[in-house]
Amino acid sequence: MTLDEFRRHGHELIDWIADYRAGVAARPVLAPTVPGEVRRQLPAAPPEQAEDWSAIQRDLDAVILPALTHWQHPRFFAYFPSNASLASVLGDMAAAGLGTLGLAWQSSPALTELEEVVVDWLRQMLGLSPAWSGVLADTASTSTLVALLCARERATDFSLDRGGLRESPRPLTVYTSEQSHSSVEKAALLAGYGRHHLRLVACGADLGMDPGALAQALAADAAAGRQPCAIVATAGATAATDFDPIAAIAALARKYNCWLHVDAAMAGSAMILPECRELWRGIEDADSLVLNPHKWLGAVFDCSAYFVRDPQHLIRVMSTHPSYLQSAVDGEVKNYRDWGLPLGRRFRALKLWCLLREQGVAGLQARLRRDLANAQWLAEQVRAAADWLVVAPVRLQTVCVRHQPPGLAGEALDRHTRAWCDRVNRSGQAFLTPAMLQGRWMVRVSIGAEATERADVAAAWAAMQQAAAAEAAGASA
Ligand SMILES: Cc1ncc(COP(=O)(O)O)c(C=O)c1O
Repeated sequence: MTLDEFRRHGHELIDWIADYRAGVAARPVLAPTVPGEVRRQLPAAPPEQAEDWSAIQRDLDAVILPALTHWQHPRFFAYFPSNASLASVLGDMAAAGLGTLGLAWQSSPALTELEEVVVDWLRQMLGLSPAWSGVLADTASTSTLVALLCARERATDFSLDRGGLRESPRPLTVYTSEQSHSSVEKAALLAGYGRHHLRLVACGADLGMDPGALAQALAADAAAGRQPCAIVATAGATAATDFDPIAAIAALARKYNCWLHVDAAMAGSAMILPECRELWRGIEDADSLVLNPHKWLGAVFDCSAYFVRDPQHLIRVMSTHPSYLQSAVDGEVKNYRDWGLPLGRRFRALKLWCLLREQGVAGLQARLRRDLANAQWLAEQVRAAADWLVVAPVRLQTVCVRHQPPGLAGEALDRHTRAWCDRVNRSGQAFLTPAMLQGRWMVRVSIGAEATERADVAAAWAAMQQAAAAEAAGASA
């Protein structure tokens, strides 16, 4: 592609993206695609000869677009909001266009120093003290793995420099709540703790980890000669956006000399609102923290932030010193390759920088407050409707609901819940995800797509009521 062609097709592509965003509300939210449908339309082998850009662009329209689930749709209420705010899209395009890589500070000084600055801006926005230092990563899963590796090395006084975990005289144990994300379990297994040493601690009535149950588990392990090593608390768990009591958990972490990692992947963004910070009270006592600006905040995926209290410990666990990456300024600069798993890093900071500057803190706060108010509004409608229940506290933007007509219970109720949710999703009017909560299915309405206004929430609520009524009528017919 020549530069002139790039210029022309690039301008066309921007128009294409803008047209897509302008028209996305008219599309069915959930892709009506069947498995294999996209693959069947694509050649099995790569093109032998160069193709014209126009052919690629045609396939974007004909093959790719119809098979998308539209995360930027105003009636996307599934999983969690993952907003690709337009300013951050431009930032990501700039990063791709510049094609620069961070391997060391000198491989791209601006890449490193912009990251230092935006991560510190983010720290300030979240109300965290200057004792925290941060780094950008791809996902929360990666950072939780890094946290559990750091915990392991602190507990074993750097067994990686000797014989590794197998030298440890006492098995190391990890604690997380039964509501925590699957990435915590995965990280514990990959970091070598072993399933037998992972404790899924029960939650209380408020769905947060029960500190009494945690205390019992810690005491039992210590008495049995095991070494409590790490606790992963969740601020905003996946199913119902519930919060573990971090201050109480931090006290136990101190007592047992455990690493405390806080997974705030989704809900961390809410902490740019001072009125939400009570939900993670005690956060300053954690050792590490992850949150994803690529969720609710609006930085296009992927953009996850990992904060630590002791960067020197992180660097000692993660650093490598190949000769070809050494430079004369190493003593004066940050080399982010020593702050995580990968050597090479994308210029992720650019998209976050563009987002924060173009929206301003006040703009982001206003959008999040809009979403919180929409969630409270929906919860009020649901509570006021006959046979409808809000089944979990509405802490932020997730509303967990169930339609429970008289006489329906147990598995029949579960079938009804999944059926009406499926009916809404198949209609294309909205996309909601069902999930299990305390052994029963419910439906999560996760509000917070950038384009979602009150009218969209009202439309989704109408679709939910219609679908539930139709399913109930079908079942009794
Ligand atoms: C609480 C929580 N933790 C972790 C994750 C995983 O995030 P990532 O995809 O960035 O690894 C999620 C994603 O949904 C989540 O809700």
